[in-house]
Amino acid sequence: MNDQLIIFDTTLRDGEQSPGASMTREEKVRIARQLERMRVDIIEAGFPAASNGDFEAVKSVAEAIRESTVCGLARAVERDIDRAAEAIRPAPRRRIHTFIATSPIHMQNKLRMTPDQVLERAVWAVQRAREYTDDVEFSPEDAGRSEIDFLCRVLEAVIAAGARTVNIPDTVGYNLPHQFGGLIKTLRERIPNADQAVFSVHCHNDLGLAVANSLSAVLNGARQVECTINGLGERAGNAALEEIVMAVRTRRDLFSCETQIDTTQIVPASRLVAGITGFPVQPNKAIVGANAFAHESGIHQDGVIKKRETYEIMRAEDVGWTANRMVLGKHSGRNAFKQRLKELGIEFKTEQELNSAFERFKDLADKKHEIFDEDLQALVTVENLEAENEHYRLVSLRVCSQTGETPHAEVTLAVDGGEHARSADGGGPVDAAFRAIDGIIGSGAQLLLYSVSNITSGTDAQGEVTVRLERGGRIVNGQGADTDIVIASAKAYLNALNKLVGAPERTHPQAMQPI
Ligand code: KIV
Ligand code: ZN
Repeated sequence: MNDQLIIFDTTLRDGEQSPGASMTREEKVRIARQLERMRVDIIEAGFPAASNGDFEAVKSVAEAIRESTVCGLARAVERDIDRAAEAIRPAPRRRIHTFIATSPIHMQNKLRMTPDQVLERAVWAVQRAREYTDDVEFSPEDAGRSEIDFLCRVLEAVIAAGARTVNIPDTVGYNLPHQFGGLIKTLRERIPNADQAVFSVHCHNDLGLAVANSLSAVLNGARQVECTINGLGERAGNAALEEIVMAVRTRRDLFSCETQIDTTQIVPASRLVAGITGFPVQPNKAIVGANAFAHESGIHQDGVIKKRETYEIMRAEDVGWTANRMVLGKHSGRNAFKQRLKELGIEFKTEQELNSAFERFKDLADKKHEIFDEDLQALVTVENLEAENEHYRLVSLRVCSQTGETPHAEVTLAVDGGEHARSADGGGPVDAAFRAIDGIIGSGAQLLLYSVSNITSGTDAQGEVTVRLERGGRIVNGQGADTDIVIASAKAYLNALNKLVGAPERTHPQAMQPI
């Protein structure tokens, strides 16, 4: 029997450290639910000591997740470990992940600690975390640039202190695959109690090698990989979950291990994370890019028609691509609607939630004859977005755009129970609509990103808009979907403005002291 390769997802923690990718509590819970549906083993939900917002988000994930293990990150300091323990307490399976840097450059310049002090602190941190849970992971930060003898000493000591998982981070993405695989092999051979812990890896993508380095580590005995959906993460990101999982599955002839991931949930997870963070997936991205299974050349198309395996090593449906199948229409009933959403893994907590989603579905079906799975997913996402914190709500929008004329928009918003209207001109209809909205709200926010994509194909497709706003150093993303892209844009803009009103202040981990 093959070993299990443990999939540790850190989209909600390292992924969130991508500048501009910060998520609200509700967004984190939605992503966590999708990760659980995908059967991710461990969900690193955040860094509870970083801020009250992070603490509450980890706690909410711990309350929502029943099957996957919920993990909280903690520096090797008392307050961090205690906060992490408290945040993950509601979860049936919980892990504390504590870390301290072990490379000379980090110890001397960042921590200003001697190697002996670092070793002592690492052991202390693991023991402290073990007071709360048996499932403790330790990371020697910047292991990829640490001295091998010292790394062995630290890892042996933390395993003896009770760390069940030792994670080897290539924090700055400096290693090459043969070197990183060799590091894992050496550590496993040289550390006397290596067999008492799972060896994990955490690779960053600064040289575009995060996945290659992780796979090389797996070939050398690592049995946990830390990764993120779409490869999100600090700077150039982390190893992409979808690439790791599909490489191990597709090349099972080379790997003596397997994951328990439900791969059909990969594309829905990718779309969800891209929508929430506003980081679109490049079309040629492996597995989840729009072109990942598209054949342009006639020779390739001919080959695939004759025998799919001539040019395809994986099946699109195995990773969750659906063929834009028409699933429902104007005459579909409430039960068919409920059933299809259930098949997509979406369930409603109350009848009222179902009824309001069904009403939206009927409105959409009036405008668009064929409703695809992707439309249903967007519909429910929008439903969630609007339920979150509706300080400002779009009542009506009228735009006038014609050749030779300046585009003009008239907007009415509901704000705290009262209605307010404004009109404005703009460079285009979206610009005019945003100016009119700002005329009412006076947000003072700066627009950092505006992007539109189509949810399905065809000119009657819904447009999905992401807007990123910045105010006073806080960055938020908003989303909106509609068959009319100006309305979708206004909804996305309001969604972002609502988040600026409601979202608690978040301390970026980088703004924290190293220890
Ligand atoms: O990249 C890194 O070293 C980390 C650690 C906290 C594991 O994210
Ligand atoms: Zn990292």
